[in-house]
Amino acid sequence: MQDSFGRNINYMRISLTDRCNYACYYCKPDISKHLCHSDILTYEQLLDICRCAITLGITRFKITGGEPTLRKGYIDFIRRLKELDGVEQVTLTTNGSLFSFTDLDELKKIGLDCINFSIDTLDESEYLKICKKNNLKKVLSNLEYAYQIGIFVKVNCVVDNLFTFSRFESMLELIKDKKIALRYIELMPLKYSDRNTKMNELIECVQKNYTLNAYNNKLGNGPAHYYTIPEFKGYIGFIEALHNKFCGDCNRIRLSSVGRLKLCLFHSDGVDLKPYLNDLEELEKVMKEWIFKKPKEHHFEEEHSSTVMNEIGG
Ligand code: GTP
Ligand code: 5AD
Repeated sequence: MQDSFGRNINYMRISLTDRCNYACYYCKPDISKHLCHSDILTYEQLLDICRCAITLGITRFKITGGEPTLRKGYIDFIRRLKELDGVEQVTLTTNGSLFSFTDLDELKKIGLDCINFSIDTLDESEYLKICKKNNLKKVLSNLEYAYQIGIFVKVNCVVDNLFTFSRFESMLELIKDKKIALRYIELMPLKYSDRNTKMNELIECVQKNYTLNAYNNKLGNGPAHYYTIPEFKGYIGFIEALHNKFCGDCNRIRLSSVGRLKLCLFHSDGVDLKPYLNDLEELEKVMKEWIFKKPKEHHFEEEHSSTVMNEIGG
């Protein structure tokens, strides 16, 4: 469907849980403020919301968290979502640490379209500093396995103030021989993260040191713009919410694990869908009204957002 600014809204990000087994310093899930289990929507309720979304023309779904793979039964939920009439694409964004190879085989079998792995560095001690977890090896072996069995893989790397060109260069190894999309994400000023990012410097250095050829085909539904580099098999992408705002093309809405429909990562407005779950006609009507009112743009460049990343999944 179209919103009041004529944007085509066809993509919904669904957060399955606010819980995360990581505590990345720019996200900092607050354990004392975890949502109550009894408030979390059941998979059945989430699927009802997805059915209404599909009727409204939303056919692409991103599964996020917290860490979505922490929630029991997430693979079966993805299977059921993939089976709904009208669904075009289901993808998953994860830290990639909790998969077994059997999980990945199962996800491949049910047709998951892409996995985005959050990996900010390939250096183990840096990884430990950023995420407070010592399992980079396991994450990389899961990434390798997912790639080998033919799941499309993307890597998310947040660019903060500590980011160095050498960290950038070492990460290029991931796309040297693999058709993977490596994306650099400008740190956004959310509740627990500041606005100090070296994204501009990074892009300047990349342009000075590498030949970037714009890649104009679509690689997913997100805001990344992609390039290829001669001699590298994969793609390099940039997501610049502050310095290269993409609100004019925004195609998405977000659903939190407790059923709050959020229309923009930045803005706090939205609607609680829980009261409408017993009447799907009413639910669809409410969703349609709110999606139409999606705000024009974010103001990350000027203000901090009160958004808590682990509650809404990015
Ligand atoms: P795909 O490329 O289709 O996988 O989508 P994506 O890049 O949006 O997915 P992912 O979950 O990997 O998100 C990557 C980054 O983009 C995260 O830092 C998100 O917070 C950010 N992002 C996603 N959607 C929006 C948005 O609507 N606004 C802003 N400002 N950032 C977003
Ligand atoms: N700014 C930009 N990206 C962020 N992520 C988490 N917090 C921020 C932030 N403040 C990224 C994660 C994950 C994706 C869903 O969002 O690293 O890859």
